[in-house]
Amino acid sequence: MSDTLTPEIPQIPLAGVIGWPVAHSRSPLLHGHWLKRYGIKGHYVPLAIRPEHLAEALRVLPKAGFVGVNVTIPHKEAVLALADVVTDRAALIGAANTLIFRPDGKIHADNTDGYGFIANLRQNAPDWHPERATAAVIGAGGAARAVVASLLDAGVPELRIANRTRLRAEQIRNEFGARVVVYDWGQVGNMLEGVGTAVNATSLGMDGKAALRVPLDALPATALATDLVYTPLDTPFLIEARERGCRTVDGLGMLLHQAAPGFERWFGHKPEVDEELRAAVLA
Ligand code: ATR
Repeated sequence: MSDTLTPEIPQIPLAGVIGWPVAHSRSPLLHGHWLKRYGIKGHYVPLAIRPEHLAEALRVLPKAGFVGVNVTIPHKEAVLALADVVTDRAALIGAANTLIFRPDGKIHADNTDGYGFIANLRQNAPDWHPERATAAVIGAGGAARAVVASLLDAGVPELRIANRTRLRAEQIRNEFGARVVVYDWGQVGNMLEGVGTAVNATSLGMDGKAALRVPLDALPATALATDLVYTPLDTPFLIEARERGCRTVDGLGMLLHQAAPGFERWFGHKPEVDEELRAAVLA
């Protein structure tokens, strides 16, 4: 039978999250909620891909009906070398969390973590003005890089950063430029003096890990404090900042917002980030 007689079979769009391991990811719950809520015929699945199979998986997934994937540990850096098109922000951060498999066969890599970080603060603290005051970022890992990129993009006049391993903070300054000022890990307390935004971008405070122990005496009560850790939602850092009178925003919203651009590209519907979604992901 000739191909011309074969009717076009409409594909049900598939997406997922690739990681190793991947069982911990909340992304399937999140996207699954949106698919159901908007009545979209599509599926979002966890994909456990070993590092040595990453390149092969990215070649095969588009042929199996996948329109894209989220990327989690340990693949976020490696996918950049395998993508055909890398957005400026993904290149700057040095990692991608969202891949789009385009109809022309090209793989498009983006990083929406910084977008998610800012969108979460804008939604939960509408009167936050990043351009008006210095920001302080505690930590210089992969997540911190996305936060730094997005805060600079949002117009912070100065960005202070401290990390246990000082070299990683210095690398960020070297790559992101003169608005970044590196502080010693032992000077985190002083780093908070006069800031308008304070971010915990370390994994300290996470369930099962030690708390972030930083003297907050210098943190102005007018500052906004936020944490990338969202298990627990209320971290010791946020509790202490709130006791000082600071506004606080928890880290779950960043996870929810970073997912939205991928969902929209893959499934053609701009999803809402609201209480219903939060409740679904927390359940
Ligand atoms: P992520 O992608 O989540 O940022 P990461 O790149 O491993 O993960 O970074 C974890 C961050 O938490 C780093 O800033 C790390 O500091 P180092 O660069 O010195 O490792 C920080 N961190 C983790 N455990 C820490 C601890 N016990 N004390 C201080 N900082 C810690």
